[in-house]
Formats: sequence, C-alpha cells, structure tokens
Amino acid sequence: MFIESPRYTERFGSIRLNHVQKVIALDSGLKSELPPHGAMGVIKINEETIKHFEDRMAIVIPVKDEKLKLIEGVVSGVPHDCLVIVVSNSQREKVDRFRMEGDALNQLCRFTVREALIAHQKDPAIGEAMGEAGYDDLLGTDGLVRDGKSEAMLIGLLMAKAAGKEYVGFIDADNYFPGAVLEYVRNYTAGFSLAQSPYSMVRILWQYKPKISGGLFFKKWGRVSEVTNKYLNDLISTRTGFETEVVKTGNAGEHAMSMKLAEILPYASGYAVEPQELVSIFEDFGGILPTKNPKVMDQGIDIFQIETRNPHLHEEKGDEHVQEMLLAAMSTIYHSPLCGAELKRVILAELVKQGILKDGEEPPHIHIATPPKKVNINKFINTIQRDFDKYHVLR
Ligand code: GDP
Ligand code: CO
Repeated sequence: MFIESPRYTERFGSIRLNHVQKVIALDSGLKSELPPHGAMGVIKINEETIKHFEDRMAIVIPVKDEKLKLIEGVVSGVPHDCLVIVVSNSQREKVDRFRMEGDALNQLCRFTVREALIAHQKDPAIGEAMGEAGYDDLLGTDGLVRDGKSEAMLIGLLMAKAAGKEYVGFIDADNYFPGAVLEYVRNYTAGFSLAQSPYSMVRILWQYKPKISGGLFFKKWGRVSEVTNKYLNDLISTRTGFETEVVKTGNAGEHAMSMKLAEILPYASGYAVEPQELVSIFEDFGGILPTKNPKVMDQGIDIFQIETRNPHLHEEKGDEHVQEMLLAAMSTIYHSPLCGAELKRVILAELVKQGILKDGEEPPHIHIATPPKKVNINKFINTIQRDFDKYHVLR
C-alpha cells in the first residue's frame, strides 16, 4: 500500500506522536517501482512487510449480541495470517447466540483452513483465570468477569499473549464493511513497520462515518470525538506551552498495539478505555511526571494515526450513550495528574454547558485496571492453557 510519510511528529517527553497520515492507495503492487524513499512524502509498504506483521498479530473482536451476518463479515475481512480472537458477551439463554457465533466462526475457519479462538466473557474458567492473575477487581460477586467492552478487550489481550502474539489489534464486531476491516489491519501493519521503538500504537481515523438522515451524509467528526480530541490536545498544550491539534483519534475503538506496549498500560473501564490509553502514555512518558518505566522511556513510544480510505459504517445504537461516552472521556482527562486547575475549570464548564453535569458536580472517578505486566499474567496463561483447546474454534 501507499501511505503518507509521517511528516510531522510532535515530541512530548519520549513520546513521538505522529500527525494523521492518509492512506494514498490500498495496494502498491508486487513489482511496481518504488518511489525514492520519502519522495513526495509517500511511503510504499511492501506486501511482504504487511504479511510479516499480520503473522505476528492477533485481532480481538469484542461482541455483544450483534447480528450474526455482521460478525461473519468482520471475521471474513481479517487477513488470513492474523489470529482471530472473539470475546463474546452475547446471550446464552433462550437463544444461545454465543453458540451461533461459535458455529459461524467454525464454518468460516473450516472453509478457509485457519484457526481462531472464541471465549465467552462469562465463562467461569475465564473468571478463574482472571482472578488467578490478580484481576479480582474485574470480577463480579459471582466470580465472573463483569460486563463491558473494555473487560472483553483485556481478556482478548491476555489470550493473544497466551498465544504468543507480538501485536494485538481491536476491531468492533458491528462493522458493515468487511473491506474496511481488511484495511484497518493493513493500516495497523503500516504503522508498526514505521515504528522505531518496540513500544508502538496505531490508531485509526475514518475518512468518513456516513450518517443516514434523508440521504447519505459523509460525516467526518462525531460530537464526542471532537470534544475528546480537543481536551486531550489541551492536556498536552497546557504542559508544553504550545497549542497543538495533533490528537485526532482520542476515541478510536479500532486501534492496535505492540504487545510490549499493551502489557504496560492500565485499562479504564467502559467508554474511557481508548482515551485513557493516551492519557496514561502522556502521564508515564511525557517527561513531566516521573516515569514508572525508565527502560521504556529510553526507547520511546511511537504513536501513529492513520486515516482510512474506507468509510466506517457500523450499527447505529442511538444517541443515548453519547453523553455517557463524553463524560467517561472527560473524566480520564480531568482526573489525570497532568490536568491543571485551569484545564479542570474549562472541562467542568464544558460538561455543564453540554448538560451532562450540574454546577458544583465533578466527573466520577473511573475504574482503572492494573497493567497486565503488573499482574501475574503467567497464572492467567497457565490456567487458560490447561484447557486451551476449548477455546479453539477447530478443535
Ligand atoms: P460504539 O461503536 O462505540 O457505539 O460501541 P458499540 O456498542 O458498537 O460497541 C463496540 C463493540 O463492542 C461492538 O462490537 C459490541 O458488540 C462490543 N461490546 C459492547 N459491549 C460489550 C461487552 O460487554 N462485552 C463484549 N465482549 N463486547 C461488547
Ligand atoms: Co459500534
């Protein structure tokens, strides 16, 4: 594929935060002439390079009661060499949707001779393995992992680790375009191939997110993402003294990390998970607060934001959670030790203006799970591996 070279990189401590890079073309041919490196600001990412990273990557797909056709479509779009890991919280009573998901996945895997993993979020063995690892705070009183996409992400991440993968990417199950899924993964690999540090992250920005209101409208920014990005940028600028607009992917559900980075980040619950990843990176590696990972600080963190060619069309679940999402994102920024008094005041004013908080109220604290590296990840792996076959689709 062809992608814009990362022309502008903002440095914040040891973080290299790259401005958005557009995908120029989805394919760059097997033999076509390479433009001289960096010519016209375009980079060619070879097919072999793409395959190299795909082979080392797990794609985690969190699912909760999505239409089977959508899940099938998403899985069919994941490049063959990636390990698919479905973490489902779908209903099991009356209609066993989880079973249907497993069957659909099994058929697809048999046809295409590939392996995949599938686990239910409420599987007692998963709850036990999370508890063994030290993630008691993610368990409910019933000993099972609590609801939530971010909890599913963490299970998927640990399973990817157990499977020996070096990269982990997340893709929602409610995507209407398998071709978009294929592109997300290619964009992940493009980012990783450009990273200088083993600690790297790629976040996807859709070129458009179409809305249907009368006709089809190709909308670029959502209400939540605009506000989240603004305050994430403010969090940086109030510390550096230079205004910036570098962050454009604060809420990116579609994102990927090297396992090395994924292991050292804490994970917030609910809608806060994606912005919290950035906030945590700013806190630990921004050079303002003392780092908990001095060795990582030496190598730096590479963050890429890649703008897709495909539009993003997902299942519309209504606007009710817009306010909830915004509050979650603002809470992570507000409660960050990087957030000064003035920025706190502005965030409170924003939330009052949006009708989310009343005067005098503060955003709630968000639960943040310990980084995988800090818990006993081997215990999780051992517990899971005792019965690892059970999670294989083609057993
Ligand atoms: P939005 O796209 O931000 O509006 O969020 P969605 O409601 O589409 O959720 C994103 C993805 O997470 C979808 O694939 C959902 O099916 C999935 N999801 C949501 N909640 C849960 C959960 O509690 N557990 C799991 N495993 N997946 C979830
Ligand atoms: Co969605």
